[in-house]
Amino acid sequence: DYMNEPLRPQFHFSPEINWMNDPNGLVFHNGEYHLFHQYNPAGNSWGHMSWGHAVSTDLMHWKHLPIALPEANGIMAFSGSCVVDHRNTSGFGDGKSPPMVAVYTGHGHGKQVQNLAYSNDNGRTWTQYEKNPVLDLNKADFRDPKVFWHESTKRWIMVVSLAAEKVIVFYASDDLKRWTELSRFGPAGTIDKPNWECPDLFELPVEAEPGKKLWVLEVDMGSGSVAGGSGGEYFVGTFEDGRFKATQHAQWVDYGRDFYAPISWDNMPDTDGRRIWIGWFNNWETCLVPTSPWRSCMSIPRSLSLKKVAFNKEEPAIYVLNQRPVEELKELRVSTRTIDATKAAWPPTAVTQKDELNDMTFELEATITPGTARSVGFRIRTADDEFTEVAYDRHYSGVYIDRSKSGNVGFHDAFAGRHTAPARTINGEVTLRIFVDRSTIEVFINGGEAVISDRIFPTSKSPSIEVFAGNNSAKITSVQLHKLRSTWR
Ligand code: FRU
Repeated sequence: DYMNEPLRPQFHFSPEINWMNDPNGLVFHNGEYHLFHQYNPAGNSWGHMSWGHAVSTDLMHWKHLPIALPEANGIMAFSGSCVVDHRNTSGFGDGKSPPMVAVYTGHGHGKQVQNLAYSNDNGRTWTQYEKNPVLDLNKADFRDPKVFWHESTKRWIMVVSLAAEKVIVFYASDDLKRWTELSRFGPAGTIDKPNWECPDLFELPVEAEPGKKLWVLEVDMGSGSVAGGSGGEYFVGTFEDGRFKATQHAQWVDYGRDFYAPISWDNMPDTDGRRIWIGWFNNWETCLVPTSPWRSCMSIPRSLSLKKVAFNKEEPAIYVLNQRPVEELKELRVSTRTIDATKAAWPPTAVTQKDELNDMTFELEATITPGTARSVGFRIRTADDEFTEVAYDRHYSGVYIDRSKSGNVGFHDAFAGRHTAPARTINGEVTLRIFVDRSTIEVFINGGEAVISDRIFPTSKSPSIEVFAGNNSAKITSVQLHKLRSTWR
């Protein structure tokens, strides 16, 4: 019974048992969101990588399905993507409905190659393409193909990583089988650390500039990210004549330690129009988190756009990736209560009742006026000496999660710590949406222009919320507490 597991997230996807890492093959098809993922069917740590599978009709309630792509003949099924081949360009269709085609990395015998598999029954059974691989450069680090239909040139585009070289290769194809190289991008961004994995490329609308769209290339680095360990960076630019050009410097995707390898759903219905992604809620460095018999969960789904932001007055405004929690999360609200936190001072004081939050599944919406105080915000306290702090820090013009005392932090040296994201004040205010789900915290700043995602492992499960402010110029002007219900039903 998932609902009785104290560390099992209730509105974040997790595998029933065993190890999971990256989301794979995210695609919407015939009314279902598919969530394939790197999965070890044989144990609770990395190995025997296969594509696990789950489906949902609302991005919230997930149904676990059998393994889609197993490890076979010593070849593991590494990360990749999935498309719906509406024109049956691949010839994999059965003449009745368009096939789903997975493009994934085969890892084995000392190299990584790109393979195809297809399904004509909504992803329930899969057939390997008999002429695999479709791309083989004879390289050990060539992985994580993301494929999409490029409408303006009427062909398939693939972005795939030469991981050790920190280079993304762009390919084109008419049939998903024969691929022609178009261009390369990188090394770029944070180049002192090797490894680029799991790229994604898509066009996004710019908020408040009607009709304007720009391209985003997202890449993940195995180490050396902003909060330490693995994390993602992205480039904003143009994609023309098969070539990506960055028009700004690289930026961090998430300022916490636990958001990795996000990819976006392909084939979203035109009537929806959203670009939604999800990431692995973990960090390679501290990935052996203290949960069993399962390990890892995904982030909440986030809806993407670009927004022009100047994080501080010294720097010019740039286009920033905005990640907004999907609207579907509001359906999970079981109760909403306004909390009066206007008297927050030092020391922190509790604003919730005993046992009010025992489920440890809630969202806090808050507006803060930092004033001149060094810090102002919240402690999510799970026991007398155990708390996770989420607050504004004036010295760094940022918002942080501090999980140094969040519970079990001793399982890895790099786990305890404080992770700060840039946060501007708008008319003197910062707004926060904080999602807490037993062993996860996600903080969305000012509607999602910066995000911090961290795992926590409280040892007690009877939390309360405390508020504090460094001096009386700092105010928490409004707080709404939404209790959220479990999706495991
Ligand atoms: C990223 C990654 C991918 C690879 C997969 C293997 O987390 O290293 O590059 O395909 O995990 O499980």
